[in-house]
Amino acid sequence: MAQADLPAVMKARSAGFARLWGYSVGFYGVWLAHIGRQTGLLERIAHRPVSVDELVSATKMHPPAVQAWCSAAIAYGLVSEKKDKKMYLKPEMKIMLLDRKNPDYLGGQFSYLALRSLEYGAFQDLFRLGRTREMSYTLGAIEQATDWDHYSFLTAIRRDKKMSRLLSQGCRLLDVGCGTGSLLAKMCAEYPKSSFVGIDPCDKAVAAARKIAKGKPIKIIKQAGESMVFENEFDIVYLGESLYAARDKQKVVSNCRHALEKGGTIAIVEGLLPESRLHGDDSRLIMGMQLDFALQGYRFMTKKEVARLLAKFSRVRFKALGGSVYLVTAIK
Ligand SMILES: C[S@@+](CC[C@H](N)C(=O)[O-])C[C@H]1O[C@@H](n2cnc3c(N)ncnc32)[C@H](O)[C@@H]1O
Repeated sequence: MAQADLPAVMKARSAGFARLWGYSVGFYGVWLAHIGRQTGLLERIAHRPVSVDELVSATKMHPPAVQAWCSAAIAYGLVSEKKDKKMYLKPEMKIMLLDRKNPDYLGGQFSYLALRSLEYGAFQDLFRLGRTREMSYTLGAIEQATDWDHYSFLTAIRRDKKMSRLLSQGCRLLDVGCGTGSLLAKMCAEYPKSSFVGIDPCDKAVAAARKIAKGKPIKIIKQAGESMVFENEFDIVYLGESLYAARDKQKVVSNCRHALEKGGTIAIVEGLLPESRLHGDDSRLIMGMQLDFALQGYRFMTKKEVARLLAKFSRVRFKALGGSVYLVTAIK
């Protein structure tokens, strides 16, 4: 929150105070966005301008809850209000809150944060007993967050002559840690001549991925990256926010190398920590998210660590996708 946005009584206080105050406001901003998405209220307001009463009667939801949400969403600038009291979404808000394919989409991130926070009662056990909590409890949260990664990866592929030519002509792609298979479904729709294999060790994720894969050229195998035994079978191996979760990362990367044909590409999408402690505001989200990862028994890697894992590959490239997320590519 900028100093200018603060009530007069707080303007006299320090910039540090303003920053901390903003954290409390941000907490509700995240929940307002998530509730608006989850209940479909944002979708309805985006569809056409509507008054609070019309929203209540159309949704049949609990009137005091809808009224409180509308009043807060207007105060927080998520939703705007016309003179006739009808609410609407500015085009920029529509993009940031609802447009999954847009690079400025933040809605999924808000929903991830809100859904993950439902697990945060477990921090007590982490700090007292060192007990971590598997992320498979929150597959829905992960799907919300990785949607953005998927569309960023698809955009990066379209700009990469070699990968887009291969996929358009028809090639084989392996997705290591494919989760619920939602990237594979998107890729299959865009590159119908290619065929896909997804592996994941999590039962729940594999069951969901198999449903998505039904009737498509997508094979799903329940397996960890450490135990795959593919040999020269793929043109592209993709790891989307999964390498951090592997217990033996070097083994996974080495298995990915075996799985690739000579000249094939490994593509890793991961959130990476800044190397130095002198990072700016850009890195603040990932710095905070370290707590979320610690709860799951994981930690973010740095660019140096990823480069070390890829020592046997050539042409290692890091492309910043935004929000501390990188696309790392390298050639076998
Ligand atoms: C954050 S999810 C990402 C899922 C998917 N790649 C996506 O982008 O939607 C991380 C996935 O990595 C999987 N995973 C964990 N350990 C793994 C391992 N050792 N090898 C392969 N996948 C693993 C998890 O089961 C989970 O589905």
